[in-house]
Amino acid sequence: MSGVSTVPGPDAARPTPEPTPDPAIDAAVAPLEVAPGAGREWWRSAVVYQVVLRSFADGDGDGVGDVAGLRSRLGHLHDLGVDAVWVNPWYASPMVDAGYDVADYRAIDPAYGTLEEAEALVREAHALGMRVLLDVVPNHTSDQHAWFRAALAGDEAARARYLFRPGRGAHGELPPNDWESCFRGPAWTRTRTPDGEPGEWYLHMFAPEQPDLDWSSREVAEEMLDVLRFWFDRGVDGFRVDVAHGLVKAPGLPDAEGRDRRTQEHPGWDQDEVHDVWREWRALADTYDPPRVFVAEAWPARRTERLPLYLRPDELHTAFEFEPLHVAWRARPWRDVVDRSLAMGELTGAPCAWVLTNHDVVRQATRYARSQWEVKGTNETERARWPTEVPDLALGRRRARAAVVLTAALPGVLYVYLGEELGLDEVEDIPAERRVDPIHRRSGGTDPGRDGSRVPLPWSGDAPPFGFSPPMTADGSPGAAPWLPQPARWAALTAQAQDGDPASTLSLYRRLLALRRERLAGAGPLRWLDAPSPDVLALAREGTDLQCWVNLGDGPAALPEGCRVLVSSGPVEGGVLPADTAAWVVVGA
Ligand code: GLC
Repeated sequence: MSGVSTVPGPDAARPTPEPTPDPAIDAAVAPLEVAPGAGREWWRSAVVYQVVLRSFADGDGDGVGDVAGLRSRLGHLHDLGVDAVWVNPWYASPMVDAGYDVADYRAIDPAYGTLEEAEALVREAHALGMRVLLDVVPNHTSDQHAWFRAALAGDEAARARYLFRPGRGAHGELPPNDWESCFRGPAWTRTRTPDGEPGEWYLHMFAPEQPDLDWSSREVAEEMLDVLRFWFDRGVDGFRVDVAHGLVKAPGLPDAEGRDRRTQEHPGWDQDEVHDVWREWRALADTYDPPRVFVAEAWPARRTERLPLYLRPDELHTAFEFEPLHVAWRARPWRDVVDRSLAMGELTGAPCAWVLTNHDVVRQATRYARSQWEVKGTNETERARWPTEVPDLALGRRRARAAVVLTAALPGVLYVYLGEELGLDEVEDIPAERRVDPIHRRSGGTDPGRDGSRVPLPWSGDAPPFGFSPPMTADGSPGAAPWLPQPARWAALTAQAQDGDPASTLSLYRRLLALRRERLAGAGPLRWLDAPSPDVLALAREGTDLQCWVNLGDGPAALPEGCRVLVSSGPVEGGVLPADTAAWVVVGA
């Protein structure tokens, strides 16, 4: 791992980390309560790195990433130049849905470490000038949560915290309504009474192991507020809020009558009363100093009308801009996405939170490696193309590099998903028996699911586990293989192989994020510039001399005369921007 560099901060108050802390030495780190940097508005322009803990780095050699592994690699994130780390759910969980099935919101899963280690991680990240966001899952618990176990055992108070209903049909043999789970199949599972008779049904918008909570219960609301307090009091700077448009269901749980939750109003999603929850959460976050922050994962139907409601000044601070996950690599659709998102920002005052990929979608190097949809695809349609269309990964990587040069130039927050900075592609050939995503299982094996974007990172060396795990465990036995198989081709993409290579994707990300801090801190709104071709996007940021040029066409395009290239996604020579290339330039300097 390379050393900790001193990248200038986005605001003058950002401290230079000094002395260089060794994550192993707790004495060198800041007190728990002190968050780094004094800029209270840091969340408006930050770069946030998403960590899937089990895939980032394994500290103890069991083949599963953990808190110790993350602590040992914080220097990588600091050198990359990120402002914050978002850790996917790390709570005690049976891991049916990668930890989005929480059994205990106040405990770290033993496979990941201990609460003490988690607290040390927060301190160490702060000492390096990075904030820490966690992931809160308020819509549902695990079926192994103490509440749900008590509910199944017949405890009436516990049952009232979930959505148990009698079935329809003469003997209650039909689900209470026609809702479908996001992971396929009915959103209801029938229970047995403690004496073994067929009983009521319970609602689960995701897997059956993820029963939905009943948010009309005050106990549920109080418990989640207390969970937030638990982590805020440990110095955590904020939360990514899982399915923030869920939680509240229409009274009486009426049938959806075939309405598609993604595009049409649906009684299971995006109910007006959910905003009462966010107002209460915001009020709590604002009692802290510095105030804690939220980013919503929300995908309401009628997004442009409904998403802004979540971003009212007394609700959630930001919401992911998900359109880039599905937009074709084409100039017009990209420009439309940017315009729509910025218009939403103008309406709410909330910054856009740009994401090119995450743990739920196909990695961008692979998405861009196949022919580009003229209409928006979905995750399912994207994965359905795998068997029929061979990906051109060199092309996909070129486009992915250009895409980050574009998104890093946009106003707002930038999310970077683990391994994106290494240019990793989707692993499509994981054997079926190794796949663990419930989407794969529940589709009867027809949909490969999301595992391909969650394969453990390659850090060093020429062969798996590529430094992901130590060669030996503490008791001297050989380390286990990574929990998902890594492809041999990743030997060329390890962090070690890319470190120091100026042409590598890692070097591009480092340079880009450093320049973003240097040049775009405090930059004004975006202004589109005239471009020589409809396949080229050109933009400037008010108050700076920086321009971003992106060529999404098939042929070369001329850059402005006499411009100086600060950073580019690929080679730029003679004032010509090749196809699938983007550059930040200054003109007349
Ligand atoms: C969110 C998460 C996803 C998870 C689901 C259920 O969409 O991003 O990974 O499966 O919620 O919690």
